[in-house]
Amino acid sequence: RPAAEIAAAPERSGHRLDLPVRLRRNRKADWSRRLVRENTLTVDDLIWPIFVMDGKATRTPIASMPGVERLTVDEAVRAAEFAAKLKIPALAIFPYVDPARRDEMGSEALNGANVVCRALRAIKAEIPDIGLITDVALDPFTSHGHDGLLEDGRILNDPTVEVLVRQAVTQAAAGADVIAPSDMMDGRVGAIRAGLDAAGFEDVQIMSYAAKFASAFYGPFRDAIGTAKTLTGDKRTYQMDPGNGAEALREAALDVEEGADMLMVKPGLPYLDIVWRVKEAFGLPTYAYQVSGEYAMIEGAARNGWVEGDRIMLESLMAFKRAGADGILTYFAPRVAEKLTAG
Ligand code: PBG
Repeated sequence: RPAAEIAAAPERSGHRLDLPVRLRRNRKADWSRRLVRENTLTVDDLIWPIFVMDGKATRTPIASMPGVERLTVDEAVRAAEFAAKLKIPALAIFPYVDPARRDEMGSEALNGANVVCRALRAIKAEIPDIGLITDVALDPFTSHGHDGLLEDGRILNDPTVEVLVRQAVTQAAAGADVIAPSDMMDGRVGAIRAGLDAAGFEDVQIMSYAAKFASAFYGPFRDAIGTAKTLTGDKRTYQMDPGNGAEALREAALDVEEGADMLMVKPGLPYLDIVWRVKEAFGLPTYAYQVSGEYAMIEGAARNGWVEGDRIMLESLMAFKRAGADGILTYFAPRVAEKLTAG
């Protein structure tokens, strides 16, 4: 019978299916939905990526990441203070390097007084209890925008690893708690572990970007660190092909063998299957990076009034938890933390 007729029929209450199981029962009220919820998002799940630059008391907006700004070191300290107040466990620091300080080799990456190292020291001095994660890769420091050393159009693997080890030790010496190599060179996790240990930094953790894909979702980030225009070619000879899943497990397996303490998958939402598989396969603390393009899509649509920004923000972060992530790097971190704290 047509639905309208059933609805109009006085005897409609008699139309009962004989169902022993009705999943809607558990959804009938907010208290019940909360009681049966399998995953929760808490402030402890959040890592806040911030961008630091030279200068004083300045915040520069990033056009393709509305609401996100590059911060001078003093402003980064204020941001860290705010994060600590919200109980966000850790910050991930990325630099915007003055173009005059960039060169072919990314030498500035090894300068113990570069903007990342100065931010590390300044934040550690004032807010010692917040975790500081640093990116190991050369792209913010090279004139060509690649993560490694470029020779005749090729990114050299082993010589790059040697530089990355020195970059990691430089960051550890400035106070980094966690080294996060995002370069995707072969063998870098083992080499960095050995280099850190040899320099007396046995306690510095490694969060490896185990499965990092060659993704268009990084576009706004490259605006943020100022490499969008300078990058020559693409990163497909070192970042992974988006069509591959089994290979992500091989990448993660090697990083685990080489001593990674934590694994990360990146981008996030389009790669939830990888998050799930990596967590299932290795059981290590596993993180997802909700990258700049994901942020821009949500925030851009929200600011246009096309979607409900806050709800999408929370729903997307919950999806990472459901996929098995132990935490998420997200530019929404402070906003989410404020919301979660407000209840
Ligand atoms: C580079 C690096 C990238 C991101 C983090 N580290 C971009 C890239 O590989 O080009 C992207 C983060 C984001 O998009 O939010 N080493």
